[in-house]
Amino acid sequence: MTCQEVPYQTRHVRFVDQLSFVAAQSAVPTSRHFLRFALSKWQATLIQDDVLLIASELVTNAITVTGVVAAKPAWDELERLGLVHVRLVGLPDSVVVEVWDVSDEPPRLQRVGDDSEGGRGLVLVQELATRWGSYRTTGGKAVWAQLAARPPLPQRPQSGERQGSHPDTPPGPDAALLRRVRAGLDAAW
Ligand SMILES: Nc1ncnc2c1ncn2[C@@H]1O[C@H](COP(=O)(O)OP(=O)(O)OP(=O)(O)O)[C@@H](O)[C@H]1O
Ligand SMILES: [Mg+2]
Repeated sequence: MTCQEVPYQTRHVRFVDQLSFVAAQSAVPTSRHFLRFALSKWQATLIQDDVLLIASELVTNAITVTGVVAAKPAWDELERLGLVHVRLVGLPDSVVVEVWDVSDEPPRLQRVGDDSEGGRGLVLVQELATRWGSYRTTGGKAVWAQLAARPPLPQRPQSGERQGSHPDTPPGPDAALLRRVRAGLDAAW
């Protein structure tokens, strides 16, 4: 099932983890590491395989419209590098994985035949997710997929964990994390 809206209300959000990646092929394995870590923190490892498969497809599509697709890009291509943002949202009984890119074109599920070269990524997302869709953001759009979390996610964030931000707030640097990094660097010098 697809949907053109933010798939959750802020008051239902239990956890949010998000990170920005340079829009190149490296974003696929690095976003998988990030998601694996976030899911283990939330005790949601049972759905890890599906989340990672979905994220790989969504991040690959986001790179295609945002940055550089080639595995070994030429120097002049690197000038076009943008960012894609990956956000994992924990709700009481489900998680939503969102991938933000700079294009306002919505994704389009394609009909694929045996000899089709592409068009399989979103078919896979549709198979694995309870529902998926996209919504417009100020700088482009977010494509999201929702999966049931079994067992339900823990009631409360662990100490120091951030609560959900507004769905249309662009993922950006985590100010608290940057302050901790600066304090650590100051202490080291
Ligand atoms: N983030 C996106 N922004 C804009 N258009 C998108 C995005 N993701 C997908 N699309 C559109 O939807 C189509 C289908 O996407 P899908 O991932 O299913 O197939 P593909 O990327 O073309 O091929 P494959 O994933 O099999 O390598 C794409 O060809 C593209 O036109
Ligand atoms: Mg694709």
